[in-house]
Amino acid sequence: MIATVRSARRLEGAITVPGDKSISHRALILGAVASGESRVRGLSAGADVQSTASCLGALGVEIDGSIVRGRGMGGLRASSGPLDCGNSGTTMRLLAGLLAAQGFSSELIGDESLSRRPMDRVVGPLKQMGANAAWPPLRVGGGTGLHGIEYHPPVPSAQVKSAVLLAGLYAEGKTSVIETVKTRDHTELMLEAMGATVTVDGLTVELERTASLAPLDIDVPGDFSAAAFWLVAAGIVSESKVKLVGVGVNPTRTALADLLTTAGFHLARSKPRFEAREPVADLHVRPAGDLRPLRIDGGMAAEMIDELPVLAVAATQIAGTSVISGAGELRMKESDRVAAMEAGLNAMGADVVAQADGWIIKGPRRLEGARVDSVGDHRVAMALAVAALIADGKTEIEGAECVEISYPAFFDHLEYLA
Ligand code: S3P
Repeated sequence: MIATVRSARRLEGAITVPGDKSISHRALILGAVASGESRVRGLSAGADVQSTASCLGALGVEIDGSIVRGRGMGGLRASSGPLDCGNSGTTMRLLAGLLAAQGFSSELIGDESLSRRPMDRVVGPLKQMGANAAWPPLRVGGGTGLHGIEYHPPVPSAQVKSAVLLAGLYAEGKTSVIETVKTRDHTELMLEAMGATVTVDGLTVELERTASLAPLDIDVPGDFSAAAFWLVAAGIVSESKVKLVGVGVNPTRTALADLLTTAGFHLARSKPRFEAREPVADLHVRPAGDLRPLRIDGGMAAEMIDELPVLAVAATQIAGTSVISGAGELRMKESDRVAAMEAGLNAMGADVVAQADGWIIKGPRRLEGARVDSVGDHRVAMALAVAALIADGKTEIEGAECVEISYPAFFDHLEYLA
């Protein structure tokens, strides 16, 4: 599908972004092994979370609307065929952790993009825990008991941390993960809410073997990474006034908001509340004042990895040179996001130079509508759509149907706000 997006004079209105993708995956996966029925309202409607739900279905878990019928820690059954994780790295890596600890063996497969992504980062620690694990193709489980380890991930990754913790639920002794940067902590928070013995001390998470997990009852907060597109869009389209209702503001997710505020964006929060230990608030955005160039390095890049494509769009409108570095992981996502954003933004007249681990972006540049390629990556498609809102004329985004992965209503929301 080609999406046509025209320049907007203003963005105005209130929207509810989709349920958080990371929390949705975890609620389904942990709900699947809880003792009893979990209620998970407001799940992400995206295709990635649907991939997790259908893999769990193949493992014998019934998911009926917002109800997940937990089968208990030992209740999963072997799937009759490979588990198809679609485009979803989170599905593949988190399920690899859970399934490595099962007495049966599982094979996990994915689409062309997912098949190219590195899985040795989960296979390594799972093998250290005594699991059967191999890649490629990714096969886990069917061995004997696991034992806890102390794991120091070489690359900051919440997916790897979560895979080790999920396996650790079944492992003899203690499992700990010691990070260099604190990545999103939804797994730890949810495990705690479900009664597991998990302790967090700075960058260290420690977990004991767990005999049973209590079911969940949760309204999934809105996805901050989806809200990020509107935070930037309403900040750079003049005269805008946008409210985002019920967004998850877990501090391990909101580094982009802090950075945008420091750079001169006008962001505000109201109605702070908690949902199953996750902080939630309404967010308000108005156009930015004078903006200062962005400087991002390793730790910061890891904290806002999913938001960097749209941050690159913001950088094109800031006077001076913005340097986004330490983001080599962007090249390992659903696409090589460093290359895809460089190509898309430069086709629109921006001055973006890709580096091995980020971009150097000179601004401000007046963008022009162009034909650009999403390369089948949902976050690239949405970031380029934000750029299109400030570009003269019309922009055509190829492969725009990929927004289905995380934000099926994205273009409806864009039309409503513009
Ligand atoms: C996610 C972790 C991040 C992120 C992805 C979702 C998660 O990946 O990019 O969109 O839900 O744990 P990495 O763990 O590979 O950094």
